[in-house]
Amino acid sequence: MSILKVARMGHPVLRTKTKALDKSTIRTPMMQKLIDDMMETMEEYHGVGLAAPQIHEGLRLFVAALDMERGEEPSPPIALINPEITPLSHEMHEDWEGCLSIPDIRGKVPRHVDIRVRALDRDGERIELRARGFSARIIQHETDHLDGILFFDRMRSFETLTFLDEYSRYWTRREDEEEE
Ligand code: NI
Repeated sequence: MSILKVARMGHPVLRTKTKALDKSTIRTPMMQKLIDDMMETMEEYHGVGLAAPQIHEGLRLFVAALDMERGEEPSPPIALINPEITPLSHEMHEDWEGCLSIPDIRGKVPRHVDIRVRALDRDGERIELRARGFSARIIQHETDHLDGILFFDRMRSFETLTFLDEYSRYWTRREDEEEE
């Protein structure tokens, strides 16, 4: 496996719409290696999610560590391909997000609290997940990457935009820093 270079904000690949994948493509050794490399890259940089455009690939694919309780061991990462999100309620919640493509910055972003996501897994099989809270937030953040959307675009105002240092000094103190 190898650690991939992460595209930073300003690189056009982060603003480009991605291409859906079919089952036979997903199952190729090349695509399986890409998924493994994305998982390794996400872990290397302590991310909880990483979308293909962030490693310069215009594909509708992301990897994520979901159901992670803060401060506990993360769950094994999963790959979601061609994800489609349906909000299950109108409830939105604003909370902090970061992004590996926007290093050392945090901001509060409103997201749906309760969602369903339909996607293909890394074997190309259809899966359906229900996610709430932080997991739902990660899935929405990563799916946005596949449409060329960054978390800044979703902020209601930029008043909470803060550097990581000031974030830990003035906003909260958290053991783990996670980036998506
Ligand atoms: Ni991100």
